[in-house]
Amino acid sequence: AASVEVDISGIAEGQILTVKWRGKPIFVSHRTPDEVKEVRAVPLNELRDPATDQSRVQKPDWLVVIGICTHLGCVPLKNEGPFRDGGFFCPCHGSVYDQSGRIRQGPAPANLAVPPYKFASDIKIIIG
Ligand code: FES
Repeated sequence: AASVEVDISGIAEGQILTVKWRGKPIFVSHRTPDEVKEVRAVPLNELRDPATDQSRVQKPDWLVVIGICTHLGCVPLKNEGPFRDGGFFCPCHGSVYDQSGRIRQGPAPANLAVPPYKFASDIKIIIG
């Protein structure tokens, strides 16, 4: 099917699950309150690809992004890099993404993309 249902009830706070959608890795991150606070405090003028965290998520606790580096398409590592908890690090050429999936360091030009998705319930999202 074109869409994928994900049960998010088992993803503990601080954990990031990878699921496949149309052959692509999708990261589903259960963010902690601290992570949310941190990304929402970053001034937009410090961002290469300016976007508020609020514009990238539907619920503060949950980040859903396509896990493909916008530089040359490697799959970033989760909970790695300078931001570590909740951040992403691309091992290919060192791009660093924050807990909102926004590009913060390295050669990638753009934020991790947000796929189409919706919450079917508090514990279920449908991607696609
Ligand atoms: Fe990710 Fe180059 S492909 S930094």
